[in-house]
Amino acid sequence: MSSFSFRHQHVFVAGGSSGINLGIAKAFARAGAHVVVMSRSADKVAQAAAELEALGAQALGLSADVRDPDAVQAALAQAHARFGPIDVLVSGAAGNFIAPAKDLSPNGFKTVVDIDLNGSFHVLRLAYPMLRKPGASVINISAPQGVNPTMYQVHACAAKAGIDMMTKVLALEWGEDGIRVNSISPGPIGDTEGMRRLAPTADALERAVSTVPLLRMGSTDDVAHMALFLSSELASYVTGAIIPVDGGSALRGGRDMRASYVPRSAA
Ligand code: COA
Ligand code: NAP
Repeated sequence: MSSFSFRHQHVFVAGGSSGINLGIAKAFARAGAHVVVMSRSADKVAQAAAELEALGAQALGLSADVRDPDAVQAALAQAHARFGPIDVLVSGAAGNFIAPAKDLSPNGFKTVVDIDLNGSFHVLRLAYPMLRKPGASVINISAPQGVNPTMYQVHACAAKAGIDMMTKVLALEWGEDGIRVNSISPGPIGDTEGMRRLAPTADALERAVSTVPLLRMGSTDDVAHMALFLSSELASYVTGAIIPVDGGSALRGGRDMRASYVPRSAA
């Protein structure tokens, strides 16, 4: 996808060293942006930056934990010194695992909320002074758990619901600065750590795909294309939206009545 141009724009991707977020970083790199990826692992960010440079982008890999506001602040300052005001900010750092609430320790719950929700707040709040005004596009990476109550996911559900609400509140607060804030909510995306954790067996993967109306897993490009669109002029009137990129999976919220259905002719 190269029809969008972000030539020399500054794109900062928190949690950008792998999976969906790296896919987004690469799409912006292909579209001409200067791209910064930040995550905990120094090795992963260095490897990601090398992959972005191989696509022709100027890139920077910065190591920081989103739970540490000082580290996030330092990374943002380094990015700003190199590439100037941030045109596109993607906040997608997350951690997840499957655990029933009754067995989840306080620290297990806190860890996921600290990474996903509090970490996103740190990234957005600390980036605010560096966002281009007017014009910046802020994208939070949410998940279906933000709206669908999901068993064994109380930590991720609470965190992603909080992120979606933060998207809406900041869209209100920052609209007057000309900053748009949206969430992308990916469905099941193939070959990602998230799916390896939530659908760890062939059976579980098959079940996950069978619930998608389009009957396929999404790709990281599917998500990246929405990020490009949301950050382009074409989306200049879109803010505060929670946008599923999920092959229609969000439509499955209602009760499934098929097993109760008796055709009238048979009644
Ligand atoms: N089930 C239940 N509790 C778990 C768990 C699991 N599978 N994995 C970790 N925890 C608990 C730990 O037991 C610990 O709680 P405790 O101190 O009461 O024992 C707490 O969570 C923190 O674990 P720790 O390993 O110290 O956290 P961390 O900060 O090193 O790592 C995680 C964070 C746990 C989220 C880790 O899985 C991670 O780094 N994930 C990033 C990648 C990822 O999840 N990608 C998919 C994104 S959707
Ligand atoms: P992933 O590859 O594990 O991505 C998570 C990223 O966050 C990694 O780059 C990781 O790098 C970073 N990260 C984790 N904890 C961090 C911390 N404390 N501080 C800074 N960075 C941290 O998993 P993914 O499946 O692609 O998920 C990416 C995003 O998409 C997440 O927000 C997830 O909730 C969302 N999502 C995924 C799916 C899916 O199907 N996979 C579906 C819906 C939503 P380090 O380890 O180096 O820190």
